Amino acid sequence: MVKNFYITTPIYYPSGKPHMGHAYSSIVADIFARFKRLEGYDVLFLTGTDEHGQKIQKEAKKNNKDPKLFCDELSETFRSLTKTLNLSNNDFIRTTEKRHHKSVVEIWNRLVKSGDIYLDKYSGWYSVSDEAFYDDDEIENINGNKISKSSGSPVEWVEEESYFFKLSAWSKKLTEFYKKNPNFILPTSRKNEVVKFVEKGLKDLSISRTSFTWGIPVPKNEKHVIYVWLDALTNYISALNFPNTEDNKYKNFWPADVHIIGKDILRFHAVFWPAFLLAAKLPLPKRVFGHGWILSEDKKMSKSLGNILDPLEIIDKYGIDQLRYYLVKEVSLGNDGSISLENLKNCINNDLANNYGNLCQRVFSFIKKNCGNKIPLSSKLNESDKQLLNNLRNSLPKLISLMDNQELNEYIKVVVGFSFEANKYFNDSEPWTEKKKDPERMNAILFTIVEQIKNISILLNPIIPKATNKVLSMINISEQNISIDKIKDDKIIKNKKELGNLEILFTKIEDDN
Ligand code: MSP
Repeated sequence: MVKNFYITTPIYYPSGKPHMGHAYSSIVADIFARFKRLEGYDVLFLTGTDEHGQKIQKEAKKNNKDPKLFCDELSETFRSLTKTLNLSNNDFIRTTEKRHHKSVVEIWNRLVKSGDIYLDKYSGWYSVSDEAFYDDDEIENINGNKISKSSGSPVEWVEEESYFFKLSAWSKKLTEFYKKNPNFILPTSRKNEVVKFVEKGLKDLSISRTSFTWGIPVPKNEKHVIYVWLDALTNYISALNFPNTEDNKYKNFWPADVHIIGKDILRFHAVFWPAFLLAAKLPLPKRVFGHGWILSEDKKMSKSLGNILDPLEIIDKYGIDQLRYYLVKEVSLGNDGSISLENLKNCINNDLANNYGNLCQRVFSFIKKNCGNKIPLSSKLNESDKQLLNNLRNSLPKLISLMDNQELNEYIKVVVGFSFEANKYFNDSEPWTEKKKDPERMNAILFTIVEQIKNISILLNPIIPKATNKVLSMINISEQNISIDKIKDDKIIKNKKELGNLEILFTKIEDDN
């Protein structure tokens, strides 16, 4: 039976060039998507750009561009980022596409039909940069400027005719849903904030704007455009060919398994989106995971502080696997985490070059030098050989469950532990001494360590696909054939007699680099 898995990233505002926060959301989602594929799932991994709304219209105007042309250009930079980050997304959606427009109009019509929309007047605070409405108690006055307490973005007073969504009517249903689905919002610390917010009682939500035009017009009242968040959230089903709920894509992949997002947009995903779906009589996603923020030297990245770490520059200089590994190893997924060039270099040297890279390099060059580049075959494994292999094999159920619960840091810790252990095993077993003393024993050691390198490489593959693909292809596992099942299978090594060529995996970074 085919097992399906649907994972999404936020769709990014193409209002400027991609930064580390965008890279982070995407890399994290990509790692889960790749892992599920290794488990044999048919995975749909979606990303894209969120192109309507006042923020984009303003930015386009600032650049003297028509908003659509402006989005065409900037959306391309996000699409090309998917290549640079080595993302395995199967689709890239733009909210200016026809397929999306159709789907948003259908959602709107469903909400009208269910009696959840009414026309009134909005007066209150709005942040263009967050595309969010704020209550009086959510803003503060700093040096005469009104800003949002949560995001720090400036807010402006808005008074206009607006359609409202009866969000207030859904507080109870949402609360019940959170109770019944305790893992809908993760991590748990974030969930509690949302639950409290909803339990307090929700206010109706303004879902149309009239003071600008860049958006999807409200059906039958085109002086309004649909609020950009109602528009944007719908992307997750537009990509499944909604409104055609008989379409296989929709049938196979909705509800989504997990929306990966940043903590700043949790309310939209864990409160508004499920309420819209409930009103539209559609199933709710299974999980929303809100990751923390990437900080630079403990501070929010900003141009004025001059502490912006540009993902493209880093990838250019150090490599994509290096950035992927560093971001997910060093930053605890649910929390904010600080990154710095200094730590990045240490991480590349210690974990990638000295640990996993060194393990592969020294084992394979030993085999090349001493065994005519042929993997020695041996079935005479002793207890310590078997223990090394079994430790990893037996931990598979735990590793799978860690990934299913987005406990990525713990997963990496365990896998890196295996790599340390394998290095130690190689040192302690001294195949170089056994070569003269007991060649049979040397064969058993080499067989064991190559088998273990294969297994560690499979487990690291979702995180550092480029390097592990190189290693696995040396031992005859092509990219398309990598799977978790191959961890249990030592016949691959047994059938592979000669090693391919290994390129350098990770270069150590010297101090002045
Ligand atoms: N367009 C909306 C999302 C709509 S989803 C239906 C949006 N776009 S965004 O481009 O502003 O941000 C996209 C993601 O980047 C968010 O998940 C946000 O949390 C993440 N990040 C932006 N800066 C970040 C950091 N410094 N660190 C980590 N992620 C942060 O919001």
